[in-house]
Parts: sequence; structure tokens; C-alpha cells
Amino acid sequence: MLATRLPLFPLTTELAATPAGPTLTIGGCDLAALAQQFGTPLYLYDQATMDAAATSYREALARHYPSETGVTFAGKALMLTAAAQWVQRQGFLLDCTGAGELHIAATADLASHQILVHGVNKSDEDLAAAVAQAGVIVVDNPTELARLAQIATQGRTLPELWLRVRPGVAVETHAYRQTGQHDSKFGFSTEEAISAVAMAQAQGLPVTGFHFHQGSQFFDPTPIGPGIDTVLELVQTLYQQHGWLPTTISPGGGWGVAYHEDELPQPAVDEYIAFIAKRMIEGCHQRGLPLPRLQVEPGRSLVARAGVALYRVGAIKETPSRRWLLIDGGMADNPRPALYGARYSALPVTDPDRAILGPAWLAGPYCESGDVLIEDLPLPEIAAGELLAVPASGAYHINMGSNYNGARKPAVVWLRDGVAHLVQRRETVSDLTRRDLPLPFGA
Ligand code: LLP
Repeated sequence: MLATRLPLFPLTTELAATPAGPTLTIGGCDLAALAQQFGTPLYLYDQATMDAAATSYREALARHYPSETGVTFAGKALMLTAAAQWVQRQGFLLDCTGAGELHIAATADLASHQILVHGVNKSDEDLAAAVAQAGVIVVDNPTELARLAQIATQGRTLPELWLRVRPGVAVETHAYRQTGQHDSKFGFSTEEAISAVAMAQAQGLPVTGFHFHQGSQFFDPTPIGPGIDTVLELVQTLYQQHGWLPTTISPGGGWGVAYHEDELPQPAVDEYIAFIAKRMIEGCHQRGLPLPRLQVEPGRSLVARAGVALYRVGAIKETPSRRWLLIDGGMADNPRPALYGARYSALPVTDPDRAILGPAWLAGPYCESGDVLIEDLPLPEIAAGELLAVPASGAYHINMGSNYNGARKPAVVWLRDGVAHLVQRRETVSDLTRRDLPLPFGA
């Protein structure tokens, strides 16, 4: 069990001998000691695993694409000040959705050339913050472009604008994560994009790129091919009709990660980048177009494997056909199983290589029958009070969490070289009422 599940965990995960028995360590830190110090549920991030993922993108781009390249981290996957600082140190752009995430980027001291802004229906506040703070705004629709043109007439200098297009093809994934199809709510149609570039040229707006994103958590890059072709066709038309060429094309992100041992081996970033690069090079060559800058936009594949969630088992319950392990977190810190039917795995923190007893169902403390984090996972006998570590917890958990049933968002701890550093404290009960105001009349 240990050997089959270990490849889901951070690269630095090891088993260390302790008085309590062999115990999992990550980044040189003992997980049982971390749970003791910071409480549970607890989110851990192993910087070495994030650094290695970042390197794999940089190296693959350098290996496969002979022109300029760049990486944007899709901040929606993990947005907190420490993560924004990490992105900055990697030399990546940070994608922020709206004024809220832009505030986090500002707190981390990111400069405008390090920030890109996304958003499907940006509010006035979002657009104003984006114009003030970002180096790139990815424009979602013609109305937004007209609003930006209006802002420009007020004397504001606009950042680079990339138009997000719908290529009409989605990747294979859960329907809630498909975005490239014609009927998607995201982006311009190709016809709208042609008029938008013409309008931008007429008005002197700095439209310099195209962006598309066909969906998230896919393992087969094939549908990105027609996506690239569609955008290059568009570029060819615009070049012929208006003499306009984009400096950058961004085929988004979405490359998948393994959440469960059935999905191993881990998908290779190199395979994904090699596919995109080849198609871009061939497509540009066939159409006589110069190679634009290639800007990829991964989120999950940079951070999911680095993150581990630690839970403590409070009680064990046997029902007619199930062994329930009731843990102290669940859908409030990880809504993915309930939202997408996502399947996870787990290991006991102490003595993780014990013999399997049989399947277990890990459920949280919330008042929902859907609050089941893991179904039907072979596990050893587990006692109340034991700790369980859930791998691949680094993306789309803490930022999709809720305060349901008064849940307090977990602490987040950054691990590096044997040092554990708190980067987001656990919420307290007073955080739950921080925004509340009493009724103006007595009871
Ligand atoms: N670019 C854009 C425009 C996106 O919308 C996304 C993800 C990404 C890049 C990065 O995708 P990634 O590389 O992280 O897969 N909550 C869902 C995922 C939603 C994805 C939203 N957009 C989940 O937990 O699976």
C-alpha cells in the first residue's frame, strides 16, 4: 500500500523511525509532530515539490519551443500571500481573478509585469484594479473590450490586452471543468475576435495576444491541437485582412495530476508541452506565420502534488456494509469529491505500511450525507485518534473551502529543508462573526 500510494505524495515524503513507530515525514518534517503543533485539519505544502514542478515546465518549454516562452500560474488553484511570493520567485506571471486576488498579489508585493488578470464578468472594481495593477488583462468579451476602450479615453494607460477565444473544442474532463466548447460562457467567438481586433486597431488599443483554455484536469492533450489550429487560422485571417499579428499566444492550462493510485503514473509535463510546442511550430510554419511567444498557464500541475491534508480520526462506525472513519475535515476544506465526484487516496501517518484490513469510507463532520471525502479505500485497521494524510490536496482546496456548519478554515504550513513555517493561520471562532452586525433593535 505504501509503495503504490507514495507517488501521489510530495517528492520529499519519507518514512522515519520514531518512538511511536515508522512515521511519514515531508520536507524533513514529522507529520505527527506538525499535527500536534498546528492542529488538524492541516494543509501542508512541500516547496521542493513545487520547485520541481516549476522546473519541469521551464525545461520542457526550453526543450521544445525555439522562441520566447513563459509560464503563468493560474492563481485560482492556490491563492495566498506565500504562494504569490513563490510565483514571483519563479519568475512566473500570477493570474489573478478580479480585485480580490489582485489584493493578495499586492500584499505579496508583485509588480505589474508579474500580474495577469482573468475574469468572465469583471466588475468595474475588477477592471479598475486590473488596469492599475496588471501587466496583462485577458479580455473575455466584446462588452469588456468596449469598457476598456472607454477607460482608455479617460486618459488611463491600458496594460497589454489578450483576447480569450472559444476554440469550439473542450478537453476530456468533468463537464464542470470544460471551457473550450462553442457553448461555453468563457471568451469571444472567433468572429467576435476578428471584429474586436479590427476595433482595437482603429482605436489604438493594445491588443497583443490570444488566449484560450479548453478545460482542466485532462490527461490527453489531443484536443489542444484543434484549439491551436483554430487560433492560428484566426491569426492568419487577421494578418491578411488587417496586417495584425499577436506577440503572444496562450493555450491556457489544465494538465492533469493523479489523485488516486489508479491514475498513476503521474502525467508528464514534458509530454503535454511537447505536444503544444509541436503543433504551434507546425501550424505557424504551414501558414507562414512567425512563432509568437508561447505562454502556458498551469495551476494544479504546479501545486496539487505538493499539498497534503492531514486529518484526525475522531470515531469509527460500522454500518451494515461500511467501515466509516469519521475525520475532522471534509467538504468544508475539500468540496471536490462532492462537486466533481473526485476520488482521493490516503495513508495513515504512523506505520503506514500495515496490512490492509479492508475498505473504508472517510467522512467529515458536516451535516450532509455528501460529506464523504473518500469512498471505498483499502486501509489497515485504524484506531480513533490516528492521523490520516490525504495526498494531491494542493490545488483547489483551501480556496474553494467554506465555513459550512461553522467550519474554520485550516492552517496552512509551508515545509522546506526540515523547517515548517505557518503561512496562513487557522480561522478562529471570532473570524466567523467578524463581518456580522447586530440587528438595530432589541430582542
Ligand atoms: N487558465 C484558465 C483560464 C483557467 O480557467 C484555469 C482553471 C487554468 C488556467 C488552470 O487550470 P489547471 O491547470 O489548474 O487545471 N475547481 C476545479 C478546477 C477549475 C478550473 C478553473 N480554471 C477542480 O477542482 O478541479
